[in-house]
Amino acid sequence: MYYIGVDLGGTNIAIGIVNEQYEIVKKGSTPTKPERGADPIIEDMAALAKKLVAEMGISMDEVAYAGVATPGTANSDTGVVEYANNIPFLQYPLADKLSALLDGKPVYIENDANAAAKAEAMAGVAAGAPFSVMITLGTGLGGGIVIDGKVYSGFNYAGAELGHIVIEKDGRQCSCGRKGCWEAYSSATGLCNITKDYILKARAEGKTTVMEEMIGGDLSKISARTAFNAQKAGDEIGKQVVDEYISYLACGIVNVINIFQPNVLSIGGGVCNEGDNLMKPLLEKVWAETYSREGTPRTEILIAKLGNDAGIIGAAVLGK
Ligand code: BGC
Repeated sequence: MYYIGVDLGGTNIAIGIVNEQYEIVKKGSTPTKPERGADPIIEDMAALAKKLVAEMGISMDEVAYAGVATPGTANSDTGVVEYANNIPFLQYPLADKLSALLDGKPVYIENDANAAAKAEAMAGVAAGAPFSVMITLGTGLGGGIVIDGKVYSGFNYAGAELGHIVIEKDGRQCSCGRKGCWEAYSSATGLCNITKDYILKARAEGKTTVMEEMIGGDLSKISARTAFNAQKAGDEIGKQVVDEYISYLACGIVNVINIFQPNVLSIGGGVCNEGDNLMKPLLEKVWAETYSREGTPRTEILIAKLGNDAGIIGAAVLGK
């Protein structure tokens, strides 16, 4: 049998057909375009899943179920996404809607970061760790807490929303309505926003930055790579953006470690492609601030191993 694993992001819908060995045998993606509302997103999701199944030359009879890792409060008992801040879901019966479009196949849902955290705990860098926490840095900042193999998400599925702890009172506006959330600084979107502010400040002060050339003067071309690439090219303003980004990331990580002291804290998302360029300064800042001191065993802070596949695999095992 095969399983359809869907990783629904604020930017892309990534789908994998997964076999019994939890290997992705076929993969595809399509833009989410959240502004168009919930139903078209689910319709595209179903169409892509069916296309991938057809391209594999198998029939839907060989698919056991679909699992969806979605941002927001995913009630896995009812299949309803009760709320999401980056996708227009409010009491949205995602499982029923998708099931109807997938020939009545069962559909299971879970919060995306919870699913990724579980996948990392099963088969990634947190394998064997009794207690792990994962953060995902994408359109939003997701959090997943795994205790002895079980995801902890509070009594109402709305827990472990680590992206919505405030790290700057009255700070940047978050899409959840609060100000100063960790997500508003340390998600990929947060990094783009910091980059934009620094470019605008440089313009106002008549300073030059290589980032202007990189984006061709068009602020909509800013990506999470812009500042890191500028920093590597020796650009002073790019370096300031990276330093600021890493300080906020470290601040949130220290908060998480001080509360949970997990064996492993894993970090996922495209920003991790920076490798040591991100991790070295990040770890310096984190260890300078965490409550634990020499002599106390330390949390291992690691780049997630399953990378972009964690959400798909985490979703594909939801019905197990
Ligand atoms: C949402 C979370 C989600 C995360 C990653 C946040 O904005 O609140 O539910 O896990 O983004 O998608």
